[in-house]
Amino acid sequence: MPSTKTERLLGLLKGQPVIPVLKIDDAKNAVPLARALAKGGLRVIEITMRTPAALEAIRSAVAEVPEAVVGAGTILNAKQFEQAAEAGSQFIVSPGCTRQLFDAARDSDVPLLPGAITPGEMMAALEEGLDFLKFFPAEQAGGAAFLKSLASPFAGLSFCPTGGVSVNNATDYLALPNVICVGGSWVAPDEAVKSGDWALIEKLARQASGLGRT
Ligand code: 3PG
Repeated sequence: MPSTKTERLLGLLKGQPVIPVLKIDDAKNAVPLARALAKGGLRVIEITMRTPAALEAIRSAVAEVPEAVVGAGTILNAKQFEQAAEAGSQFIVSPGCTRQLFDAARDSDVPLLPGAITPGEMMAALEEGLDFLKFFPAEQAGGAAFLKSLASPFAGLSFCPTGGVSVNNATDYLALPNVICVGGSWVAPDEAVKSGDWALIEKLARQASGLGRT
């Protein structure tokens, strides 16, 4: 049975083919960055907990960019899950899946997109009622060919491959029946964020938001 929280997450994505994976060093960049991405068609964004500014960045994007759907990424444990949820994250992404994380997700209303790359991890997620998973690091773990081979044994699972995905290979993934969307940092290059080149980011977002459409 798919969890209703996962259904809510899928509803938030509403056909968006790419989730931007963001690393924000200065929280004041969060608002213009989220606005530029939304303007380019990528409303759903993932702010990773890889910097000390991440929680403040999430808080300000949630408060000031109502057109954005703000999630938290690189969540490694229950404490980070709770902090990110408290900051207003509308979904939580993790590179993996652990018992602690599953427990935190079960106690929360915020949907979890956990990572899995082995059949055993996928079965553990299914036992939790989680059937939409991050596949990370996608390119290094076997890429589109690997994901394609999961479609038959794991007919009930769908994926968001992330890691090494770019404008050059995203369509290989998006063409697979078990792929809902991809994740990637290429739409918000570090240099463009640091220099405030929001026009470039909007342009990259527009290009990404058109991927996979025929
Ligand atoms: C992630 O956390 O999803 C990845 O680090 C993003 O990978 P990329 O930088 O290769 O897009």
